[in-house]
Amino acid sequence: MEFRSILLGFSLYLVYFVDIVISRHTSSFVRSEWPSTDIPLDSEVFAVPKGYNAPEQVHITQGDYDGKAVVISWVTTSEPGKSEVLYSKEEHKYDRTAQGRYTNYTFYDYTSGYLHHCLVDDLEYDTKYYYKIGTGDSAREFWFQTPPAVDPDAPYAFGIIGDLGQTYNSLSTLQHYMHSGAQSVLFVGDLSYSDRYEHNDGIRWDTWGRFIERSAAYQPWIWTAGNHEIEYRPELGEVATFKPYLHRVTTPYLASKSSSPMWYAVRRASAHIIVLSSYSPFVKYTPQWWWLKGELQQVDRERTPWLIVLMHAPLYNSNEAHYMEGESMRAAFESWFVQYKVDIVFAGHVHAYERSYRISNINYNVTSGNRYPVPDKCAPVYVTVGDGGNQEGLALRFSDPQPDYSAFREASYGHSTLELKNRTHALYHWNRNDDGKQVPTDFVVFHNQYWASNTRRRRLKKNHHSQRRDVFVASL
Ligand SMILES: *[C@@H]1O[C@H](CO)[C@@H](O)[C@H](O)[C@H]1NC(C)=O
Ligand SMILES: *[C@@H]1O[C@H](CO)[C@@H](O)[C@H](O)[C@H]1NC(C)=O
Ligand SMILES: *[C@@H]1O[C@H](CO)[C@@H](O)[C@H](O)[C@H]1NC(C)=O
Ligand SMILES: [Fe+2]
Repeated sequence: MEFRSILLGFSLYLVYFVDIVISRHTSSFVRSEWPSTDIPLDSEVFAVPKGYNAPEQVHITQGDYDGKAVVISWVTTSEPGKSEVLYSKEEHKYDRTAQGRYTNYTFYDYTSGYLHHCLVDDLEYDTKYYYKIGTGDSAREFWFQTPPAVDPDAPYAFGIIGDLGQTYNSLSTLQHYMHSGAQSVLFVGDLSYSDRYEHNDGIRWDTWGRFIERSAAYQPWIWTAGNHEIEYRPELGEVATFKPYLHRVTTPYLASKSSSPMWYAVRRASAHIIVLSSYSPFVKYTPQWWWLKGELQQVDRERTPWLIVLMHAPLYNSNEAHYMEGESMRAAFESWFVQYKVDIVFAGHVHAYERSYRISNINYNVTSGNRYPVPDKCAPVYVTVGDGGNQEGLALRFSDPQPDYSAFREASYGHSTLELKNRTHALYHWNRNDDGKQVPTDFVVFHNQYWASNTRRRRLKKNHHSQRRDVFVASL
């Protein structure tokens, strides 16, 4: 009896995995064009804008829940200056102003400049806005485009970048990303790596701010915190975690009723994006746990079909680097990701690229010994894109053999793009730096976990009159 059921189980397992196993892929391609050292401080890449007290390190992020606001951030170094933004739909003809505020901080022997954050709200959807910050000869002008209104079929293109740092590899990633045509960055943590310097040299935060400005001043970067943002240095007297990060970056956490800027959600076009913090408490009954439980209940797939989760430490990853560091969050949240049919979970941390199949391990049971991830069509796809190109180099050692849950993995630098086409289809690419956007190295068509998997819903949408028959078809 027992033997028969094992056999039966095994053959079912085979049927499930058959086409999957064959297509598992570990790329042998490894190319590191440049050594993993940071670009020198005096490089043009980090050039300080000309003029007295000129605004520098300009970057924007979404400022509300639904994409009708941005927060514009910048730094001044000689004196605070105004925290004011002039903006308009017409270039050079500024007819509106917004008032922000500034903050500053010290970190051991480093003193920051004046870090300005200014909310610009009540914007129109799908509109190009020009903005100006600073005064006189030192004033600088930029622009951004607001997203389309939240709508189930609103197309939108996101880029996904992680573990960026400030090496020549980082620059290559950023340049390739900027040619991708994507409209907003989902950043999955580990920003400047300034904590790799003696006393966590804040000067490397400033160079990083100037480095990303070429993209981040013109389109929102949606922020997730990584371990390099913790900056816990009790021996230097620095015990407040995430101090530089929280001064330099803002997130619209209040709009999603979060109690912390470390975890929050935004809706943009046809996507509901949930940002989690791997390095803040998340076990049962903690604020992050309660918040996520509530936010998942808020998700309305009829309005935002695409449910995307960002975090730093991956839940599934078969590299030897950081192996199983996401396991505690997996134990806390994976069953919700399956229950709510999350489409994709993006993470960073591991400096290599990897994509999983739809798998789950929600039946893990320490008593019965049940411990293997199994195919699960309700589960998200897990993507690790911690390959932005920082000074720590690549994570070259994957576990061998490649686990069944792993679809594609490659230790090279790059970034991903996710193009949401409509409520059912999204095109996903991972772009290795050397190939640029023309030769995507990993390409997948994502079918929406809510709309594409449910015949009934699709047919109801098409033809309301055939409702009864369709319910019957669906119940088969
Ligand atoms: C912030 O800037 C003000 C004004 O220049 C200065 O008085 C204060 O000491 C600074 N605070 C920190 C923490 O550096
Ligand atoms: C875990 O396994 C044990 C032993 O097979 C079983 O009694 C228990 O119900 C399982 N727990 C869950 C939550 O499935
Ligand atoms: C959704 O987008 C896909 C990919 O572009 C396309 O093939 C499909 O026809 C679209 N569906 C609808 C209903 O427009
Ligand atoms: Fe990390």
